[in-house]
Amino acid sequence: MIRKGIVLAGGSGTRLHPVTEAASKQLLPVYDKPMVYYPLSTLLLAGIRDILLISTPADLPQFRRLLGEGEQFGITISYAEQARPEGIAQAFIIGANWIDGQPCALALGDNLIHGDHLYAMLLASAQRTQSATVFAYQVRDPERYGVVFFDADGRAVDIVEKPMAPPSNWAITGLYFYDERVTEFAHAIKPSARGELEITDLNRRYLREDSLKVERLGRGTAWLDAGTPDSLLQAATFVQTIQTRQGNLVGCPEEVAYRMGYIDSATLRRRALQLGKTELGRIMAEIADGLHD
Ligand code: DAU
Repeated sequence: MIRKGIVLAGGSGTRLHPVTEAASKQLLPVYDKPMVYYPLSTLLLAGIRDILLISTPADLPQFRRLLGEGEQFGITISYAEQARPEGIAQAFIIGANWIDGQPCALALGDNLIHGDHLYAMLLASAQRTQSATVFAYQVRDPERYGVVFFDADGRAVDIVEKPMAPPSNWAITGLYFYDERVTEFAHAIKPSARGELEITDLNRRYLREDSLKVERLGRGTAWLDAGTPDSLLQAATFVQTIQTRQGNLVGCPEEVAYRMGYIDSATLRRRALQLGKTELGRIMAEIADGLHD
């Protein structure tokens, strides 16, 4: 089992300036929760309870204030600084001591995944400890992402970062599961032309070693990132639509923690009370009372 996971929540959020000139992007609201709740929920759902949150020296204290040591979710949260945004793969160098030679997952702090059969897929990915797993999703604007393309038999051929002429419309999402070679492979990456340690180069290394499983997410799954004004608004509207229609929560780590058995109903109820009169608190209390399936 992969038991460790990093949430990467640094960067400069330039595509959201001036909003993020004085505030962390990953703490902005996506409807009724801070953005970081969504990737955190994804890792919890994968059975991961040992989390390292990486952010900028300026923003890290706010994440601590929000998430503490993780006891409200029945998990352990540690913190580390990324002095400068020198690439996503740098997370595994910053976290090397904490990772301690174990397999490790990574969730980007601005990514939201929601959908059918997600739990089974995440669990299967976390159980794969001899290879890496990434997820591909069809988008209309692949040039914004890492893009994977497949041969006639459906095998991944290569991944390219933000290609001007995308070879397919399959984007690689910001959720990654790696085996214990991850730190070694991350150390071997050289900075790209834009001066970053690219996560795509790490994935290409796994692909070269014939150790990369590319899991395609189907139409029953929603993958959103929230790095621009439009995508942030879309993500918020998506969460609002699902939650108000179904009464189910999207990206609520307290709920996931309860359903996964990391916390009991009394802990969930206490948290619901803390949230006072919010709709989120009300739904949490109903879940603690067994009123939701
Ligand atoms: O969202 C998925 C995409 O994420 C992938 O398809 C791409 O392959 C991958 O490179 C990445 O692309 P982005 O353009 O979204 O990367 P961005 O620089 O925006 O970083 C993603 C998140 O990670 C963002 O919330 C900020 C954070 N970050 C990024 C870098 C480069 C850091 O915390 N530190 C960093 O050094």
